[in-house]
Amino acid sequence: MSGAHPNLTVVDHPLIRHKLSYLRARTTPKKEFKELVDEIAMLMAFEATRDLPTEEVEITTPIETTTAHRIRGKKLVLVPILRAGLGMVDGVLSLMPGARVGHVGLYRDEDTLQPVEYYFKIPPGAADRDFLLLDPMLATGGSASAAVDGLKRRGATSIRFLCLVAAPEGVERMRRDHPDVPVLAAALDRGLDENGYIMPGLGDAGDRLFGTR
Ligand code: URA
Repeated sequence: MSGAHPNLTVVDHPLIRHKLSYLRARTTPKKEFKELVDEIAMLMAFEATRDLPTEEVEITTPIETTTAHRIRGKKLVLVPILRAGLGMVDGVLSLMPGARVGHVGLYRDEDTLQPVEYYFKIPPGAADRDFLLLDPMLATGGSASAAVDGLKRRGATSIRFLCLVAAPEGVERMRRDHPDVPVLAAALDRGLDENGYIMPGLGDAGDRLFGTR
């Protein structure tokens, strides 16, 4: 947890800080940018799943029978928010390849400025699953909050939000709208500029992931 933001955990680790420094640099090319997103997402997923319950199982090694521990309980679902969230999926899946993957697509209505769902697909049985909602940038928090609304409307009760860079504005919006949803970030930045970009941030994560600028 972070002092001013009780809903936020900044996953602070020398490896994450090191990789973030390259991720932020404007000269980092597309291929390396994607690799860094994967690596940081994987390290964050490690932290985000620290409290998953385990159960004892009996196994037999080549030497003898012993007790070991396996994850029990709810099945994990990764839900990237389109499109930049897609960039985090491979990294998290490399750690938990059995996780299901849903998708949320949102656009901003030009008149109301509110996020509108244009795509929403998650596996059935939402109440019995743990959701990891993925988006590299938590800026105003509008999309993240709307995506959580959508998951809750479909029955989800266990949701964590994973991002790489968070702005205080987005973290506060999530705390206000969804105090039950922990936010994990690799870094908490200074704030938003007049265009809604995170400062110092890393620019447009979607454009840098997909080479669209
Ligand atoms: N989305 C991005 O990709 N970058 C920002 O800085 C803010 C929102």
